[in-house]
Amino acid sequence: MLNKRLAGFTPVFVFLLLMVNYIASAQQVKLTSFEPGAIWKDNNGVHINAHGGGILYQKGVYYWYGEHKVEGDAGNRAMVGVHCYSSRDLYNWKDEGIALKVSQDSTSDIAKGCILERPKVVYNKKTRKYVMWFHLELRGQGYKAARTGLAISDKATGPFNFVKSYRPNPGIMPYYPAGTPVSEQLNCKDTKNESETFFCRDLPGGQMARDMTVFVDDDGKAYHIFSSEENATLHIAELNDTYTGHTGKFVRVYPDQATEAPAIFKHNGVYYLIGSGTTGWAPNPARLLSSPSIWGPWTYQGNPCRGDGAKITFGGQSTHILPVAGKKDAFIFMADKWTPKNAIDGRYIWLPIKFEDGTMVIEWKDKWTLADIK
Ligand code: DGJ
Repeated sequence: MLNKRLAGFTPVFVFLLLMVNYIASAQQVKLTSFEPGAIWKDNNGVHINAHGGGILYQKGVYYWYGEHKVEGDAGNRAMVGVHCYSSRDLYNWKDEGIALKVSQDSTSDIAKGCILERPKVVYNKKTRKYVMWFHLELRGQGYKAARTGLAISDKATGPFNFVKSYRPNPGIMPYYPAGTPVSEQLNCKDTKNESETFFCRDLPGGQMARDMTVFVDDDGKAYHIFSSEENATLHIAELNDTYTGHTGKFVRVYPDQATEAPAIFKHNGVYYLIGSGTTGWAPNPARLLSSPSIWGPWTYQGNPCRGDGAKITFGGQSTHILPVAGKKDAFIFMADKWTPKNAIDGRYIWLPIKFEDGTMVIEWKDKWTLADIK
């Protein structure tokens, strides 16, 4: 008898639950501007949890992927996985859930408690797959493994399925454009600095791959850009046609200068690469490099930040450069303001990129909108 009575209540209960949820999300204030460093609430009124992230734009929708942080002392360990949000206006974000879940299997490369950083997702038009690359450190091994990880999905919001992790380009020497003097080419019999020594040490097993990003060029070719050689030198490594492996062609960029947090974009045929120094979670001066080709030569252009706070990148660290869809020459510098003592409180610093005197400039704004990008 009781079951019959309860059965009568179920539809009403579910309806009420849906109504409450709808009203709650409808009550979330619609945002109409960016406030760098402020708490940024999603459609459920919860601070966005997508750190060290990147954004994919597809069919009018932006998808933001990032590290999901938890409360308490888990620190930087991945206890949940990669969070995904979606937006049509870049101000208001809908929680799409966990796109890549860490594994409950302690023998998995992405076992709960591993370190899974800087996820970036790109779409492969040939295979119609969403391809996620990320920096992976194996559980309980600190930052020793220095691997890159791969996961694939049929949908932008996932679920992504973990495929493999490894160190790229074992046994392969860097690419040098024709005509590069031999004296400028790395020679493992005569290394010139510590970074080259690390490269040669790691040559047989594959190169270290930590902080990273992925870039798809106008011709559909994709590149994996990552800190290597104990974070001393960046590598730009070509991905294969399905974006699910490395072709073996790669260059060493800004050698022996210790760059992390790479973010890259292309403007008027010029490639721009922004990174940070290597000071753990503490902010430091951003560094800008530019090149006429993805293969270089890459030229150091100094710190692109101007004004108060420029010397510490306004308290942030680069993670992605976002081209604004449908707005010519409009790019957003995306940075993380880390809070390692309570990682879940990490903030986001998004600032407009300006082009002045043939280079790019980033200035602080307390509050701004897409209309401010001139
Ligand atoms: C700086 C890197 O950019 C972050 O992704 C993270 O690995 C921290 N170092 C860890 O100290």
